[in-house]
Amino acid sequence: MNPVANPYSPGAGNRPPELAGRDDVIAQADVMFQRLRAGMTIEPMVLVGLRGVGKTVLLRHLRDMAEQAGYEILWAEADEGKSLPEVLVVGLRKTLLALSRIEAAKDRVRRSLGAFKSFVAGFNLTVGDVGLSYDPALGVADSGDLEADVSDIISEVGQAAAAAHNGLVIFVDELQLLQRSEFAALIAAIHRTSQERLPVAFVGAGLPQLLALAGSAKAYAERLFVFPRIDALSEEAAVAAIENPASALKVVFEPEAISEILRVTERYPYFIQQWAFCAWNTAADDNIITWSDVVEATIVAQKKLDESFFRVRYDQCSSSEKDYMRALAELGKGTHKSNGVSDQLHCSSDEANDELASLIKKGMIYQTVHGEVSFTVPMFDAFMRRAIPDFVAKS
Ligand SMILES: Nc1ncnc2c1ncn2[C@@H]1O[C@H](COP(=O)(O)OP(=O)(O)O)[C@@H](O)[C@H]1O
Ligand SMILES: [Mg+2]
Repeated sequence: MNPVANPYSPGAGNRPPELAGRDDVIAQADVMFQRLRAGMTIEPMVLVGLRGVGKTVLLRHLRDMAEQAGYEILWAEADEGKSLPEVLVVGLRKTLLALSRIEAAKDRVRRSLGAFKSFVAGFNLTVGDVGLSYDPALGVADSGDLEADVSDIISEVGQAAAAAHNGLVIFVDELQLLQRSEFAALIAAIHRTSQERLPVAFVGAGLPQLLALAGSAKAYAERLFVFPRIDALSEEAAVAAIENPASALKVVFEPEAISEILRVTERYPYFIQQWAFCAWNTAADDNIITWSDVVEATIVAQKKLDESFFRVRYDQCSSSEKDYMRALAELGKGTHKSNGVSDQLHCSSDEANDELASLIKKGMIYQTVHGEVSFTVPMFDAFMRRAIPDFVAKS
């Protein structure tokens, strides 16, 4: 098979050749954007799911939809070690610049740029020279209080969008990387735009620990947001994700080949791309990919994942953290009581608490609202058993 023509796109954030199985969320976002246009109330939305299920590519797809609908966009991505103002500053600047080019909004944007200048100065941020020719707006986004100032600046941009007779859609990826107080500030800012009836919509994405984080950051967050769950694909969608990109290039996967990919990947999008990609490269025939091609590809795909997707995360952990993860892996797939893990380690839950806390902080493990623990990476339990084969469980 011609490797140059390989249509699959393994790797984080890479746009898949077929965005399969997300019609529900896309329709939900579509309704949201229509309500934004009509000046109706909007429920902010946060896509929640494990690593590699396709949150980022879906979020980007929704951004493209919003862009095509003509909305102003504010795009941001939380990052390890970056404060919320740092995360927002580049997007804020870009949005304000775009708005400043709209005649109807010019006067209003001037004030917003003043607020932006205060915001930038107040949090010691560095950014291009936008707004520097404007006087800082006094009393707006300059209190030094994170929650007040983030709310002010988001409100300012919302008002500027309103002056431009447009709506603003804010996107933030990797929300779980925000500190609790920062997440609280962001939630408060979103809440305020709805109280002020500003034309602002919010779509975020992040790992499942967000559900617990949101609730503990702001009690009302659970009612304010909708949290569509992004998960492994349905069988039908997984088949489409594999089959359609191939058939567009006149290549056919035998039904047994598809079943085998569905079986080994458990229909997780990241793995589907990896397996289809490897199967394509393994297939000798010009236009048919067989079951044995997939079986052969599994060796390559597994190795690739073990060396990259799984390994980079594993390597970030200390040996006691690895022990904790190995013990959790011993319990198999899904979520487990944390004392089940400490039992495996022959210690009390309290003694294993430091490891659990640091693994949660590193985003390796999340805790459900009921306090059960689970890996944030699908099939990480199996990887841990491969990485440390000779774990001796308590009998
Ligand atoms: N709906 C989908 N259909 C097919 N492949 C997908 C889909 N969503 C994501 N992928 C693929 O899965 C991988 C991971 O996607 P990504 O958005 O980075 O996941 P996340 O942000 O949840 O970690 C990428 O290779 C992407 O092309
Ligand atoms: Mg992502």
